[in-house]
Amino acid sequence: MREEAAEQFHLLVEAAGAAGHTLVMTTAYRSYGFQQILWDNYVAAEGEAAATRFSAKPGQSEHQSGLAVDVSAPSVDYKLTTAFGETEEGKWLAENASRFGFILRFPEGKEEITGYQYEPWHIRYVGKEVAPLIDRLGLTLEEYLEWISGEE
Ligand code: DAL
Ligand code: ZN
Repeated sequence: MREEAAEQFHLLVEAAGAAGHTLVMTTAYRSYGFQQILWDNYVAAEGEAAATRFSAKPGQSEHQSGLAVDVSAPSVDYKLTTAFGETEEGKWLAENASRFGFILRFPEGKEEITGYQYEPWHIRYVGKEVAPLIDRLGLTLEEYLEWISGEE
């Protein structure tokens, strides 16, 4: 994971702990080769059409950028499941991630825009200046980037 994102992630985990919540990093940086293995396994198990909705192809995952982290908690057995979004930890993450420069990258109801299913566990570092704005406006990264480029 990139240094600035990693530093902020550690602060986020500390703040969660101080608020009584245990948040755990599951995966952060993934190489092209590792994403290839994941993708091939998903396609073999569920077919390409299904895999496309929840997994990036190799070379297209933001995990490869070192800016994304998948987070889970003991209350859901450290799984990456939509149930995480309903837990106290998942709610804390959704409410507080932006203070540390992270956004929930694949929000519920935005599948058409992001191209991926709701993932309450996947956060992406965009910096502390921009994350609170994206969060407050309820935007996806796609919508934010479109808005910014339209303003120029
Ligand atoms: N699950 C996200 C979309 C990824 O594979 O990067
Ligand atoms: Zn992820």
